[in-house]
Amino acid sequence: MSGPMSDVDPIPVFSFPTSWSHGRGLAGRAGTVLGELGCRDPLVLTDGLLLSLGVVEPVLDSLRAAGIDYTICDAVNYEPTVDLFDSIIDRLDLKKFDAVVAVGGGSVLDVAKGLAVIGSFGGHIRDYAGFDKVPGVPPIKVVTVPTTSGTGSEISDGVVLIDEARKTKFLVISKKICPTVALTDPLMTVSMPPRVTAFSGTDALVHATESYISKGAGPATELFALRAIELLCRNIRAACDNGGDLDVRERMQIGATMAMSAGMNSKLGLCHAMAMPLCALYHMPHGQAVGMALPVVLAYNAPAVGAKMEAVFQAMGFADDGFARLEALLKEIGVLARLGDMGFQESHMPTIVNETMNSAQRPTNPRDPTPEDIAAIVRRML
Ligand SMILES: [Fe+2]
Repeated sequence: MSGPMSDVDPIPVFSFPTSWSHGRGLAGRAGTVLGELGCRDPLVLTDGLLLSLGVVEPVLDSLRAAGIDYTICDAVNYEPTVDLFDSIIDRLDLKKFDAVVAVGGGSVLDVAKGLAVIGSFGGHIRDYAGFDKVPGVPPIKVVTVPTTSGTGSEISDGVVLIDEARKTKFLVISKKICPTVALTDPLMTVSMPPRVTAFSGTDALVHATESYISKGAGPATELFALRAIELLCRNIRAACDNGGDLDVRERMQIGATMAMSAGMNSKLGLCHAMAMPLCALYHMPHGQAVGMALPVVLAYNAPAVGAKMEAVFQAMGFADDGFARLEALLKEIGVLARLGDMGFQESHMPTIVNETMNSAQRPTNPRDPTPEDIAAIVRRML
């Protein structure tokens, strides 16, 4: 997330406006949920691959069973740009929908939240960029059925779009855009390939870890974050190795949603502050950027977090030799790489340092970094 934020100590908050249900086969309740919300004209938003693989079928079946006519849009086929978002709006008459049912990964879920804003309040998505620019809770409801476990977009307060014209990412952040209902169903995540499982699961693990030690942490976010660290770190290897194991998928999914419920309230830290420039410069997935930063940033933060450091490693299952075992895990699942092998050049350093210092996730990092500290962290990642 970008944009300056004040350095005053944040007040711990835990508000979680989305109604979250979890269970195997729960995607098949989408029709009933829409009925309970009083919605009759939903848009089903997904991507072409999921639709062709039949992953969306349980949701569509449930809508048909509830006697609900729906429109499908399967155009969210890559990380969404502002142009893609605009093109989806151009081909739909958003006014006729009273709900968006989003079935997919973080990109699909983010676009759904953005469509609900534009369909409800008009204008262009850029009008709502930044923090708290959305005038109210959109009357168009959003029901999320995630098919990955990681971004937490199924309950989160953010929309991320790529602004190609300005060569940056583009964020809309507001608790008002948190989805109305999230239905997490591990059966919907078994099609996720190992690489996506590794990157999205790592993203969730970093949400949980950064949230737990954040300056904005409070009693409820700490509870959710610590449990999420346990669920994610102890299951991510198995989820990558054997994606068909429903028990493992289930723990990853619960962990990912819990991690975001903590993270969006406490705010995060330097891993997420650094991810934005690293992804833009080296074209790596967000989950890889935050994962590559995690061991180095944790080591930097350790002097400022006291006993919390030990609690993090205990939850991870790495009571002894925590740093080495965390690095080994990230390497084993294909997340850890050297920045030096990814095209790092010394001339990039000022951009990385400046963007990290200006990130909205930086002020809640447990230790206040100087620009020199950030440069030193980057050098340890080379
Ligand atoms: Fe993240």
